[in-house]
Amino acid sequence: MDNINREYIDEYISSLIEDEGNELKDFREYCEERNLPIIHKEVGQFIKLVINQLNAKNIIEIGTNVGYSSIFMSKVMKEGKVVTLERSERFYKEALKNISDFGLENNIQVYFGDAVDILDEVEGNFDMAFIDAAKSYYRIFFDKCLKKMKPGGIILSDNVLYQGMIASDELVVRRKKTLVRNLRNYLEYISHDKRFVTSVLPLGDGLAVTLIN
Ligand SMILES: C[S@@+](CC[C@H](N)C(=O)[O-])C[C@H]1O[C@@H](n2cnc3c(N)ncnc32)[C@H](O)[C@@H]1O
Repeated sequence: MDNINREYIDEYISSLIEDEGNELKDFREYCEERNLPIIHKEVGQFIKLVINQLNAKNIIEIGTNVGYSSIFMSKVMKEGKVVTLERSERFYKEALKNISDFGLENNIQVYFGDAVDILDEVEGNFDMAFIDAAKSYYRIFFDKCLKKMKPGGIILSDNVLYQGMIASDELVVRRKKTLVRNLRNYLEYISHDKRFVTSVLPLGDGLAVTLIN
């Protein structure tokens, strides 16, 4: 129970999603066995829809981890480029190895460093951004990505309902109070600023979808 959807709903939605292909399925299972925080299957399916709708060729991701979502997005795109940023050296190195094992080193560029510090240096004009890193910095990531987005582009922010805590004070645990405050402020910002249209979906741990006008 993730306090967002009932388990049987998540399981049913998941059961409708086609497997990503053997290689990627094995990689997902390997990541899940290690409890790595990779995207939920339903979130992956929604990302696939957005990539197809936008005919996205350039994607930026904040939070690579071991590369599952960047490899997934790259495979969905078929051609085009994913630029992804990771601050943990261990995960960065592991992502490079996984990307190379999938033969995608020419399609995915991994930057090592804290996105707060290095995002401005990343060059590009992106159709889609996927924010999936330290939740207290989502506003900073968003504003920095915004400068690099094409008009009509979409910014996806994952985990924005954070185990239900964002929507209900009763679920908030003391040590997460700052994170909850920051994510609530972030959702207010992307929901009410007239430059964007945002829809918050109870998919996975909560996914915000923001269209840049
Ligand atoms: C939820 S995981 C990303 C999962 C990945 N997108 C996937 O689905 O396969 C978040 C990752 O973001 C990284 N991270 C957190 N804050 C960051 C920051 N400020 N800059 C760069 N990476 C960050 C963490 O080290 C972690 O590996």
